[in-house]
Amino acid sequence: TSPFAPRHLLSIADLTPQELTTLVRNAGKHKTDIKSGHGWPHLSTALAGKTVAMTFSKRSTRTRVSTEGAIAAFGGSSMFLGKDDIQLGVNESLYDTSLVLSSMTAAIVARVGPHSDVADLAKHSSVPVINALSDLYHPMQIIADFLTITEINPSTSTASLGLEGMKIAWVGDANNVLFDLAIGAAKLGVDIAVATPKGYEIPAAMRDVIKQAASTTDRPGKLIETSVPEEAVQGADILVTDTWVSMGQEEETAKRLKDFEGFQITSELAKRGGAKESWSFMHCLPRHPDEVSDEVFYGPRSVVFREAENRLWSAISVLESFVVNKGKIQ
Ligand code: CP
Ligand code: NVA
Repeated sequence: TSPFAPRHLLSIADLTPQELTTLVRNAGKHKTDIKSGHGWPHLSTALAGKTVAMTFSKRSTRTRVSTEGAIAAFGGSSMFLGKDDIQLGVNESLYDTSLVLSSMTAAIVARVGPHSDVADLAKHSSVPVINALSDLYHPMQIIADFLTITEINPSTSTASLGLEGMKIAWVGDANNVLFDLAIGAAKLGVDIAVATPKGYEIPAAMRDVIKQAASTTDRPGKLIETSVPEEAVQGADILVTDTWVSMGQEEETAKRLKDFEGFQITSELAKRGGAKESWSFMHCLPRHPDEVSDEVFYGPRSVVFREAENRLWSAISVLESFVVNKGKIQ
């Protein structure tokens, strides 16, 4: 790579524990400053006159709105390029698209199917590429999730986010959101217990990536895997899940709904499993009633709408470090 190669954000695995901590902290700081009316005069023109390309091959509410909002907050323009808008994939290769888009923009934010698509874009791009969700990872979501967790568990520690020893229980499908969450948890010293039905476990190659993440810190979080939801929930501070049918898996819907029976998060499950008295519920959204009952989703323990709002502050933090500061996370 040339010394001028841009730094990309394709997964939480690309970040050191300290960098992840800084991105989460900066997101929280910008949230407080902007919401309290302090604003950020020094950054509000940082992308003035610049465009950011957003190539999305799948639907999006939160990622699109938060990223476009973040680009606007820096005075830049976002260019939303849905799958029917550009030549990519139909008339033009990823390679050609990457060279062309990066010659005219300050960054590319890409939502793709196979992770190799965003990795290829990044390989050939002369500007930073940010993964806005692939079939393997969803880093922008996970920065917002750790911001949300620090808001539930505020810490005065200056060295870390102070989450060491917490336990997250993930009950449901082992998917893109879980993979980056587990990588982040390992790096931040948070234990994560994952309950999936048999046949839906974390793939072996991904387990290795999570293990590798654990080796980046002296105090890694543990990964626990089970097919018994109650076991995962035992002693957990946070219960979290995601849809059982991710975008692109629609044809498997009937089979998945059947295979995931018994994995819905309910208060009853939390009680039976022995979650901590103070447990909270998280979900990246969009949500279907299959994976979590209404009573939990709309109940007082649920922080899902705060988590969704935190996508904006996290997008601001990511753009600040990767686009404005050219990959320097400080
Ligand atoms: N959580 C999330 O990424 O939502 P969208 O698919 O709506 O962007
Ligand atoms: N796992 C889901 C997340 C959506 C934000 C999907 O990939 O469709």
